[in-house]
Amino acid sequence: MFCHNKAVMPTAFDFLLREIKMQEQIKNTNTLQELQNLYTSVFGKNGTMTARLKTMRDLDNNARAELNRENTTLRELFKTRQAELENAAMMAEMAHEKLDATLNPEPENRGTLHPLTQSLREISEILESFGYERRTGPEIEDDWHNFTALNTPAYHPARDMQDTFFLANGNVMRTQTSAIQIRTMEETGVPVKIFGIGATYRKEMDATHSPMFHQIEGLYIDKNITMTDLIGDVRAFLKRFFNMNDIELRIRPSYFPFTDPSIEIDMKWRGQKWLEIMGAGMVHPNVLRNCNIDPDVYQGFAFGFGWDRLAMLKYNLDDIREFYNSDVRWLRDAGF
Ligand code: DAH
Repeated sequence: MFCHNKAVMPTAFDFLLREIKMQEQIKNTNTLQELQNLYTSVFGKNGTMTARLKTMRDLDNNARAELNRENTTLRELFKTRQAELENAAMMAEMAHEKLDATLNPEPENRGTLHPLTQSLREISEILESFGYERRTGPEIEDDWHNFTALNTPAYHPARDMQDTFFLANGNVMRTQTSAIQIRTMEETGVPVKIFGIGATYRKEMDATHSPMFHQIEGLYIDKNITMTDLIGDVRAFLKRFFNMNDIELRIRPSYFPFTDPSIEIDMKWRGQKWLEIMGAGMVHPNVLRNCNIDPDVYQGFAFGFGWDRLAMLKYNLDDIREFYNSDVRWLRDAGF
């Protein structure tokens, strides 16, 4: 049988040859753009493969099968090369964006706690570990809790020790956290072991005084509490707060209306000067009576100190007002 177009019918060898050439061209593309161009020249509207696929019906079965196979194979080859080139592009970008882990990073401003907050946390932690419970009270106080119950009636000259801010209704801005002692004893009775914390207010302002400052007040009342317990706790507290192995204290007689005897406690600072750290004493019987506590059965001690002042010492500050001038450096990572 004679087949007139036998001579132009592509053989398996023709297919193979074309495929190998094509494979070579695909391999030789260096960029995604080149690959895209090649793809269009093969599979685009006017592409070579597109044209050949149109001749499908003129082909015999073998040639059709070959063409189909070639079509699929080429598409696969394009896909593979595309993945290769994409990967290479990504690697190139990564090499170019390489990280140098030894470079100093940009400083990260995470912020820090204000030194007053930090010191309050430390103080609280220490006192709580000694069994003192933390208490607060109102900053606007009545005369009873701020003065009278603290054995400081209206005529008492000790009221002059504190330059008080008075409110029109006769209340005061709390001048001392000692008011918290009274509120606690009224509320919970005895025995009691607490520390009160909070803001206090006085009409004064210089490098060591701010009209608003903070105090901490300790109070321990039970049946057999003595001055020795007081000094022991204060010593242990200061050692922990200032991180010192040993500490030199000086106890001076003093006067506060709400304690008897009253003392002031000084601490040797950096082996040189004496610094006044706190007032303290055995709670005056009148104070206990004012809170309906029998002073013949219960007694104990109280102490009070400026929490700002302790923080100033710890953070080496000369001017208390620096705590309150809202300088953002306080809140930055490194502080001052
Ligand atoms: N309230 C006193 C003041 O502001 C400090 C103080 C002294 C508190 C002796 C006390 C104390 O509890 O016993 O100056």
